[in-house]
Amino acid sequence: MIKTISSIQLKKGMYIHELDCSWMKHPFARNQFKITQQSDIRKIQSAGIKSLKINTDKGIGIEQHTSNLSSAKEPLNEQSKDKIPNDSSTNNSDKKNLKKTRKDAKQIKNHAEQAISNIMADVKLGQQVEMEQVTPVVDKMTESVLNNHNALLGLSRIRNMDTYTFEHSVNIAVLMMSFTKSRGMSPEIIHEVGTGGFLHDIGKALTPTEILNKPGKLTDAEFVIMRHHVVDSHTILLNTPGISQNALDVAALHHEKYDGSGYPDGKKGDEISLIGQMSAIVDVYDALTADRCYHKGQDPSVVLKRMLSWTGSHFNPQLMQEFIQCVGIYPPATLVMLSNHYLAVVIENNSNLLLPRVIAILNSKTNETIEPKIVDLSQQDKVKVISSESDQKWNLDPQKYLDMI
Ligand SMILES: [Fe+2]
Repeated sequence: MIKTISSIQLKKGMYIHELDCSWMKHPFARNQFKITQQSDIRKIQSAGIKSLKINTDKGIGIEQHTSNLSSAKEPLNEQSKDKIPNDSSTNNSDKKNLKKTRKDAKQIKNHAEQAISNIMADVKLGQQVEMEQVTPVVDKMTESVLNNHNALLGLSRIRNMDTYTFEHSVNIAVLMMSFTKSRGMSPEIIHEVGTGGFLHDIGKALTPTEILNKPGKLTDAEFVIMRHHVVDSHTILLNTPGISQNALDVAALHHEKYDGSGYPDGKKGDEISLIGQMSAIVDVYDALTADRCYHKGQDPSVVLKRMLSWTGSHFNPQLMQEFIQCVGIYPPATLVMLSNHYLAVVIENNSNLLLPRVIAILNSKTNETIEPKIVDLSQQDKVKVISSESDQKWNLDPQKYLDMI
């Protein structure tokens, strides 16, 4: 019998009759096949396939699997020890809100990347930045960040190497807005630093493309040209009517370092404004977590550890601590291992950074995927996050699971 099921109900032993997407879009050589390993299930779920048809004459059905489970050999006490805690804090309307917030954030991010791409193309042709093009985009981002900054933050890990500069610009805006929000600064300042982040690398419109996109180390001479983008960004924005001092500071100071070893002016300590010091932190954080044509981005928790070791030299130590409180040790969309051996994806952080709200997705002991389950770890006292995990190692795309909520 042919049955339609959700991809989260897939189990080993089921026979795929039809995946609900075109052959071009799924990662398998055939359309019909038997699921023989857990990694097949993960591939299907990671491809974003939400429903599919199974043939229960050629493989097991849902009921058969349930009865197999009840006769599983694993001792009962082992099963209960590794149970996912029940989450009473997430009801259906919360889930609907999460889904809508995430969908809106995706649209805002895409629109913002398109806008900065157009603005940079105009600057390349010698035109001025028009605030009429910038303000509506930053308005939308501010609204989203004030509502729930985790939605846009969670999207900052989606990387496309060809559009690095545009994504980086939007990410710096989102990170600066989230950072100022978490420090309790006013909506006006949040908007201003959003504008500054959005336009902070506008000077790169004037950097020769072969240097900007060079796949490898820059020569000393090329580095001098590359570094000049800061001066260009500042000059372009000084000539932009309606720009605020805070926005100018993000553009002018994001490569200065706390110990004076940065550029272009080698300013140090309090010679760099508060907004400038904050922008130096978010710029390095985003650059190191990004995939570039010459290196793979590092996991956010690894980057934060490295950056902590540089505080006092590169960054203001107090601000660095506050930045970690803002993005979390395990920022949204990070794959994490829980103390009960389940793998989960972080949705958003709570004040205790080891107890974020997550979606549990896989039992790492049995390597079996489970029906994704939202759990607010701060609402229970048994399970916590113990480490971050590599997406590549597990062949899992956290974004797909966030989309499944
Ligand atoms: Fe820059």
